[in-house]
Amino acid sequence: MKWLTHFGLSESPFQKDLADDKLWVPTSRRRLVDDLVEGCHERHHVLLVGEPGVGKTCVLRALRQRLQQDGFRLTYCHNATLGRRDFYRHLCLALGLSPKATAAAVFYAISDHVKQLGEERLHPVFLLDEAHLLHQDVLEHLHILANYEWDQKPLLPLVLVGLPEMRERLTLRKNRSLWSRIHTRLSLGAAEPGDTAEYVSFRLKRAAADHELFSTDALGLIHEVSQGALRDIDRIATACLKLAAKRKLVIDRELVARVQQAEPALDDAE
Ligand SMILES: Nc1ncnc2c1ncn2[C@@H]1O[C@H](COP(=O)(O)OP(=O)(O)OP(=O)(O)O)[C@@H](O)[C@H]1O
Ligand SMILES: [Mg+2]
Repeated sequence: MKWLTHFGLSESPFQKDLADDKLWVPTSRRRLVDDLVEGCHERHHVLLVGEPGVGKTCVLRALRQRLQQDGFRLTYCHNATLGRRDFYRHLCLALGLSPKATAAAVFYAISDHVKQLGEERLHPVFLLDEAHLLHQDVLEHLHILANYEWDQKPLLPLVLVGLPEMRERLTLRKNRSLWSRIHTRLSLGAAEPGDTAEYVSFRLKRAAADHELFSTDALGLIHEVSQGALRDIDRIATACLKLAAKRKLVIDRELVARVQQAEPALDDAE
């Protein structure tokens, strides 16, 4: 691609397909991953919420890297739109068990599985991404997975990840059984202005950029427009690189503004 050659980049710097060991994990995110790791070690159920594109799923990937070293067996599910029966089938398949259709059968299959893993000193954790999309009847049944052995420990520790409205749903009276069992409650905020600059620079370096390609005021405007959501930063920064390469321009505030103006406004789309 011409724009990559123009800037001497080895790959598209803001693509979403990036290896776990290439993730940007500044101190603030490392602390969040530490809290998640601690929650899993304590066999807590965990909730992580944040606005779209702030990097929740990438935090889960950083968590996966850490937990795999510590003898955890992670099962990741993002198919949260399933009805209860399909959810159980999916859960069994994800755990490598033959599908079961009823809550009781799933419960027994999973307790057996968990016991076996325990003998091998492996600790299962079930990561449920996009959890705000869970059907209410699935959510109501999740607390069945949440108690085990006279409620002394969870059968299968859950890490629920979703948009901030997930927290609001969980605090509804009808979900209080599950909510009261979620002891680790975390949120991931948008990047601060300094983070945005650091993030852009980090990803450019991973793509072999040999100097800063964005001026400070360009980064300031990217931050303003994206409101610190990394997915939006990715999109705007990529559009800036392409336009700058095409027109042989530097990436300053004016160029970011041009890119921004070329995007259909949110109001027009609605
Ligand atoms: N730690 C990170 N390191 C590198 N890139 C990241 C990181 N976090 C997020 N990104 C970039 O931002 C994009 C969006 O991140 P992610 O998918 O994790 O957001 P999300 O909070 O899960 O969004 P959604 O709520 O829509 O699922 C990723 O595709 C990636 O390009
Ligand atoms: Mg996500």
